[in-house]
Amino acid sequence: MYVCICHGVNDKQIKQAVSQGAQSMRDLAKTLCVGTKCGKCVCQAREYLPSADAKRSVA
Ligand code: FES
Repeated sequence: MYVCICHGVNDKQIKQAVSQGAQSMRDLAKTLCVGTKCGKCVCQAREYLPSADAKRSVA
C-alpha cells in the first residue's frame, strides 16, 4: 500500500527503513523523502515508527 504518493513510497519500504534503523520522520525523509513534498503522508508514516509502538502500548 502506498503511504507517500508524491514519492511513490509504500509501507514495505518504510518498514524496511525502520528495520534498518530509522527512528523518526527526519530519518524517513532522509532515506525515502517521505513527507518532503505535500506532507499528507506524515501522520500515516509516523505509525510505522518505533515510537508509535511505544505510545500504543502505553495507551
Ligand atoms: Fe508524501 Fe506528499 S504524500 S509528501
